[in-house]
Amino acid sequence: MYTQSFNVQDSTGLKSVTPPAVENPEAQARFDQKIDADGKIEPQDWMPDGYRKTLVRQISQHAHSEIVGMLPEGNWISRAPSLKRKAILIAKVQDEGGHGLYLYSAAETLGTSRGQMLDALHSGKAKYSSIFNYPTLNWADVGVIGWLVDGAAISNQIPLCRCSYGPYARAMIRVCKEESFHQRQGYEALLTMMGGTDAQKAMVQDAVNRWWWKCLAMFGPPDADSPHSAQAMRWGIKRISNDDLRQKFIDATVPQARVLGVTLPDPDLKWNEERQHHDYGQIDWDEFWSTVNGNGPCNKERLATRVKAHNDGQWVRDAALAYSSKQLNKTLKDAA
Ligand code: 3HC
Repeated sequence: MYTQSFNVQDSTGLKSVTPPAVENPEAQARFDQKIDADGKIEPQDWMPDGYRKTLVRQISQHAHSEIVGMLPEGNWISRAPSLKRKAILIAKVQDEGGHGLYLYSAAETLGTSRGQMLDALHSGKAKYSSIFNYPTLNWADVGVIGWLVDGAAISNQIPLCRCSYGPYARAMIRVCKEESFHQRQGYEALLTMMGGTDAQKAMVQDAVNRWWWKCLAMFGPPDADSPHSAQAMRWGIKRISNDDLRQKFIDATVPQARVLGVTLPDPDLKWNEERQHHDYGQIDWDEFWSTVNGNGPCNKERLATRVKAHNDGQWVRDAALAYSSKQLNKTLKDAA
């Protein structure tokens, strides 16, 4: 459904922005040339301060989303309906943890430590994806998270495999391969439920009703209200705008919903022959911003669980540090 071959054109029209302040004209010229030639910027290369800050902001928010994203589904590991589903869910949640680690590592190459990024998350300063602040009420929610949440995540992340910053782009290649499996396993779990009893079918429809609009909001505010998009696209960090990605996701999902046998909860959703895209209804942006700003149904619970997990893991970090300093001392002693 969504694979590396989901190759789409870059959005146009957002690239004419004021260039950032020139801090080092020669280095800036080399940087601009590389960006214009679609080359990769690597950690040792000179880069404008704004480029570095934008990347740290986006990559760290992305990493936080991966590890907070483990929580709504992790809740269901002990309640999965069969051993097969439990094994798949454990693998998926573990993958999300791995994605967080690749992404924190990519952000660290820009000079910000993992500790600083985690402090920002745990103190509530840093953002993570709005979608993980909603509750997972029943097993169908786990399938819908795979199908729609991971489906939306992949649509947004495949263009990031072509991001101008090398470490982020390379991390995203592996992340997208794994996300593709996540999306398929969710869809397959829902297909199984839709072949079951009326009660199971109703659970799937209910879960789709609750998650659909939240997934559309995941792509971020409309282009006209997105403060970072224009510059991020000029720098080749973002390749496709929030609205264009949202539209692609909707167009790809409508036929999948038809095969599944569920109705997407939008009376305005219909094919527009002229645009060759689906028209869709109004997203509730007030609700989105309220959630992003900490007032969603599960924000406080998610953050508290994350902080507790971090604190409970202190002994592991202490043990790893003690072991590495013991190894270092041994190496120094052997070398003396
Ligand atoms: N949730 C929370 N905050 C959001 C958001 C969302 N869904 N969408 C946008 N925002 C925030 C932005 O972070 C920014 O806040 P800031 O100025 O405080 O940093 C503000 O809203 C304005 O939005 P912009 O569109 O101007 O911001 P960006 O250019 O950064 O675009 C983005 C937002 C499209 C999410 C972009 O950052 C991006 O593509 N990020 C990488 C992918 C990512 O982080 N995905 C999150 C989901 S990961 C996931 O789902 C895990 C998977 O395993 C399921």
